[in-house]
Amino acid sequence: MMEPKIIHKLDPVISEVKKKTGINIDNFKPTFLERRILFRMRTVGILDYDEYVKLLSTSFDEAKSLYTAFSINVTKFFRDPHVWEKLENDIIPNFLKTTRFSPIRAWSCGSASGEEPHSISILLNDSLKETRIGYQVYATDISADAITHAKKGIYRNENLINVHPERLNTHFEKTSEGHYQVSSVIRNRIEYERLDMLKTTGKLFDIIFCRNVLIYYDKDAHEQIFKKFADVLKKDGILVLGQDESMIGTKGCNYFELPCPKERIYQKKSQ
Ligand SMILES: C[S@@+](CC[C@H](N)C(=O)[O-])C[C@H]1O[C@@H](n2cnc3c(N)ncnc32)[C@H](O)[C@@H]1O
Repeated sequence: MMEPKIIHKLDPVISEVKKKTGINIDNFKPTFLERRILFRMRTVGILDYDEYVKLLSTSFDEAKSLYTAFSINVTKFFRDPHVWEKLENDIIPNFLKTTRFSPIRAWSCGSASGEEPHSISILLNDSLKETRIGYQVYATDISADAITHAKKGIYRNENLINVHPERLNTHFEKTSEGHYQVSSVIRNRIEYERLDMLKTTGKLFDIIFCRNVLIYYDKDAHEQIFKKFADVLKKDGILVLGQDESMIGTKGCNYFELPCPKERIYQKKSQ
């Protein structure tokens, strides 16, 4: 079977997507962009790169489909359970020791279909229930479809395998279709917004989750985002990255230390 041709220059594709959708994709890693473009070329049955660029220049739908192909939003409740155990057993209790009376503010940056912000809301709800401390979760993603899905809070069994049966009982309701909807108590603590992580947010946070988003981006984007996270985290604030992500070789190390390397849990350095 014939395969699409190797791509030499990505600039025409980057510029067409920007023109058609207003979205800037030039911070994605070139190898990642190339894989997704080849995937779209195969899907629409085009073998020649220039021909594909021509299609892109005349078709808004293709620009949108290509952009959607970049938005990998695989996720799970309590993804990497050991990270959530560390948060529940060490990090959050430590937060509480430093007498914080103001609500805890968490940010799920790259919240996909909502499994992560809902897991955060469950974790904070359960950890804070014996205290008078409140919490809020801010959840952002660049994909409008992902945000729409997240707001409904309805999930299939396979996304819930890491949810403890007691939590499933307390925080979920079974729908008539046999799926599970997160309870309104947990859902109502989450504020959603469609936002490119590289654009600014004026809010301040105690803890930021940015997991399995940076792997698709180049070093330039990493530098920008680590600086931004340092700016919007409060004193001693926590940053949780994905298991395959790190700050090695970036200026992020100037702003953060890594008290829990296995879990990729970082803490903002005191100035
Ligand atoms: C693989 S999912 C990760 C979901 C969740 N954080 C987790 O670890 O399970 C990556 C998400 O990041 C989002 N994303 C990619 N680039 C983004 C950007 N520049 N700003 C905000 N979200 C972005 C995608 O739309 C997708 O929903």
